[in-house]
Amino acid sequence: MQMNLPFNEGKPVEIRKNSIVNKIGSNDRAFHDWYRFVLSFPPHLVQEYIQKFGLKSEHTLLDPFCGTGTTIVEAKLNGIKSIGIEANPIAYLASSAKVDWNIDSDNLITHARIVSESALRELKNQSTALRTLPLEAFELLLKDSISPLPLHKSLVLLEQLNRLKNDQFYRHELVALAKSLVSSSNLSFGPEVGVDRKKKLDAPVIESWLNTVSKIANDIRSTKMADAPAVVYLADSRQFDRILQPDSIDAVFTSPPYPNEKDYTRTTRLESVVLGFINNKSDLKNLKSKLLRSNTRNVYKNDDDDAWISENTKIQAIAEAIENRRIELGKTSGFERLYGRVTRLYFGGMARHLAELRQFLKPGAYLGYVVGDQASYLQVMIRTGELLADIAQSLGYELVSIDLFRTRLATATKRQVREEVVVLRWPGDGH
Ligand SMILES: C[S@@+](CC[C@H](N)C(=O)[O-])C[C@H]1O[C@@H](n2cnc3c(N)ncnc32)[C@H](O)[C@@H]1O
Repeated sequence: MQMNLPFNEGKPVEIRKNSIVNKIGSNDRAFHDWYRFVLSFPPHLVQEYIQKFGLKSEHTLLDPFCGTGTTIVEAKLNGIKSIGIEANPIAYLASSAKVDWNIDSDNLITHARIVSESALRELKNQSTALRTLPLEAFELLLKDSISPLPLHKSLVLLEQLNRLKNDQFYRHELVALAKSLVSSSNLSFGPEVGVDRKKKLDAPVIESWLNTVSKIANDIRSTKMADAPAVVYLADSRQFDRILQPDSIDAVFTSPPYPNEKDYTRTTRLESVVLGFINNKSDLKNLKSKLLRSNTRNVYKNDDDDAWISENTKIQAIAEAIENRRIELGKTSGFERLYGRVTRLYFGGMARHLAELRQFLKPGAYLGYVVGDQASYLQVMIRTGELLADIAQSLGYELVSIDLFRTRLATATKRQVREEVVVLRWPGDGH
């Protein structure tokens, strides 16, 4: 679908001359590979919509599902103020560190060298048993996700990071540790997380950590000049009343979860547990309860977001079609029984988010939601973008366009499915 916005009709998008993006290149991985390069959209898509929405330095861009921070990093590189909201602490850590450029790169490297030397000394001295996690925490890991030696090295490094803690660098150094944990692990991502058959019995954890820290230092050193404020909050985007100022947001660009069985707490489990964000089953449940219900592993008895879409006949019809298909196919597992319910809860959660958001938007604010069609639930097609547009309109938003961003081969159906940007406009309360 052709983009058709009133402020940039038919004009080709230009990259502004003074944009830092010109220097580092729009597809550059700078900043985006501090932790993991698993983004739901490429950085250049954010730039494109920053231009299309006509955003300038006086504007504020919000990403309410900011993950590891693609939108807010791109906003900062383009000199635009931004705010991120993220409910998963490990993604929050990554995104908040990525937009904190207020550190001295040389001092960061010096500090990291001291930490790594201390960790290496400690590793040489070890005559005792390998370090490991408390049982309750260990049991949360996917089986064999990391071999004992890389885990031991990572825990020794973490110990030294805490012992020699420097507040200025701590978050950046932790993000680098999260990355080296994943690269020293037996995990593979494609896109769901799995455990490789061939195990890495050892890995250069300290060396890989130090390399990431110096990459971080270099990225910050080369971009000091484009420094627009960016702030990230650890919060649930369905209820964030005390975080934002009313009437303060000029635009939104985000990629929320989709109804597709992807469990974000599973893809980030190793680093979340090792860094101490999740220590036991109750921490895990607490985290899951703050996330949108986009998979059957985080559905709870008292969940009631579905009340928000109880009158949306399209969503009700899809949930019923999924349930009927389950019965027809004779599928009886606990997860399969939840497919219909999670679909209702997902769209209900998005409705709740869009309803909550209205008070914080300036009249005329533009919003872009990047979403994909899904057929994960017994191959019943869910046109996420269309349904989201429907919900938004019922809440008073105007639908500007649904732009095709790319198509993707769905594993379940072997069909090409659409990934789209749903562009909305908030007309203001008196709409
Ligand atoms: C598709 S990812 C976003 C990826 C992001 N564009 C990036 O650059 O990494 C969706 C994110 O939404 C977060 N999320 C899920 N439910 C949430 C909620 N209720 N409030 C805030 N964040 C949530 C997930 O933890 C996940 O990081």
